[in-house]
Amino acid sequence: TVQFFTPKLLAGHSLLLTAGPTREAIDPVRYISNHSSGKMGFAIAKAATDMGAEVTLICGPVNLATPAGVKRVDVISTRDMLEAVMSRVDNHDIFIGCAAVADYRVADVATDKIKKSSKDMQLALVRNPDILATVASHSPRPFTLGFAAETQDVERYAKDKLLRKKLDMIAANDVSNPELGFNADNNALKVIWAKGQKDLPPTDKQTLAGQLLAIVAERIAILKDDNK
Ligand code: CTP
Ligand code: CA
Repeated sequence: TVQFFTPKLLAGHSLLLTAGPTREAIDPVRYISNHSSGKMGFAIAKAATDMGAEVTLICGPVNLATPAGVKRVDVISTRDMLEAVMSRVDNHDIFIGCAAVADYRVADVATDKIKKSSKDMQLALVRNPDILATVASHSPRPFTLGFAAETQDVERYAKDKLLRKKLDMIAANDVSNPELGFNADNNALKVIWAKGQKDLPPTDKQTLAGQLLAIVAERIAILKDDNK
């Protein structure tokens, strides 16, 4: 596609962004993770750069090329991702949590490969920190946008996450449709903030990223005006 002109709606802003899955080790050869491809996050990184933002992308294990101009930091586990985010959050005025973060990690990671026995086995898991909620409760905090991957009651669960994590905005996607979300090239989003919402219908992730960031830019401008 030929783009003659992308309005620099995010000029002067710096975006910190998480993308991809996180991975939690079980032993030196095995791990727990999820189907996130990182495509949506990388599309947001590219769109934000095109719109004039400085972008730092903290990503889990993905197979994607870094968009030109984007600063990329690779991490593996949820706790690594949290550390990479919190050490940089003060240098950014927008945070977008696009990563599919592992909610649990293995309680005791084995130092050697676990051998099978004749018995069944159980794996003890402990809760991981919530990166998005940690950013949202940090002071001073950036404009904070989260994602909500849901398979049912999309709007209700997304609104619940918006309030519970004290976010400025949430972008919900219905991952029950295999054509959209997670590993797919297309996606659709229901974008919700305290005073309104907007549906972005199914399209390719790059177009969708631009539409989402246009809403972010508009909300940030309105918040700035409100504070005058
Ligand atoms: N998230 C995060 N850190 C976690 C878990 C989630 O930063 N430990 C972020 C994700 O990047 C996403 C948002 O929180 O922006 C929502 O993730 P999601 O998995 O949909 O929600 P959870 O709060 O983990 O709730 P659940 O998985 O039970 O639906
Ligand atoms: Ca989760």
